[in-house]
Amino acid sequence: MIRSKSLFIGSSNMTILHISDSHLFADAEQTLLGVNTRESFEAVLDNVTRQGVEPDLIVMTGDISQDYSAKSYQYFAERISQLNKPVFSLAGNHDELSFLKQYLCHDNLFLNKQVITEHWQVLLLNTHSKGQVYGVVTADELTWLETCLQDNPELPTVVFMHHHPIPIDSLWLDKIGVKNAQSVTDILQAYPQVKLCGFGHVHQTIDVQVDNIRYLSVPSTCVQFLPQSDEFSASEERPGYRVYHCNRDGHIEVETHRVSDYSPTVNLAISGY
Ligand SMILES: [Fe+2]
Repeated sequence: MIRSKSLFIGSSNMTILHISDSHLFADAEQTLLGVNTRESFEAVLDNVTRQGVEPDLIVMTGDISQDYSAKSYQYFAERISQLNKPVFSLAGNHDELSFLKQYLCHDNLFLNKQVITEHWQVLLLNTHSKGQVYGVVTADELTWLETCLQDNPELPTVVFMHHHPIPIDSLWLDKIGVKNAQSVTDILQAYPQVKLCGFGHVHQTIDVQVDNIRYLSVPSTCVQFLPQSDEFSASEERPGYRVYHCNRDGHIEVETHRVSDYSPTVNLAISGY
């Protein structure tokens, strides 16, 4: 796989649209915890367009599919391509890697792990561990991460991954984050050019500053989980996304959006997913 992509932005700033956890099915009528995931995904993308968000690139941090079907990836690829922007995707615990390669790696869809622009570096770290709900970052992946940071000390950097690399004060979710999180954060914290670490998986908004790094999770595009809950619990919060305006001086402005005209019908009685 080609690991690096050079992206010409054309302005000194870079805007990233961050979406995650669409949990799509082959069947357009299928629901997750009562939420029609295709409908909510459409509502999120419609909102992006209506809000006038003009990203230079889109990052999807995984759990694209819920049923591991080829059709769910085909649908995602077709729908996200309509935004006409470069899309970089990562695998979540719910993803089928062969389908990512088959459907999300052509035209404007990329699986590159490193994006270099004139003023920024974006890194997409793999935390997918086959057959596991929790994440693991392999020794090779850690070496790659550190090499990218060593090679580009002058470029402010945004790092994305699927699983959360910091505790989020939710007992059940903290058991299924990145297993070797400390190895990851030790590297990130050692390089002052790392400004932001964005992740999905937790279906809620987390915003924690540790030294130079802002750790941010994004709402799922479908069902949300209740923050600070010891046990699995869904929430009726609306689907959403984040937008990062990355200025050339390394400063980042963060926007958080939740859809306003779509209310998911969440089945709160279900005790797991
Ligand atoms: Fe998820």
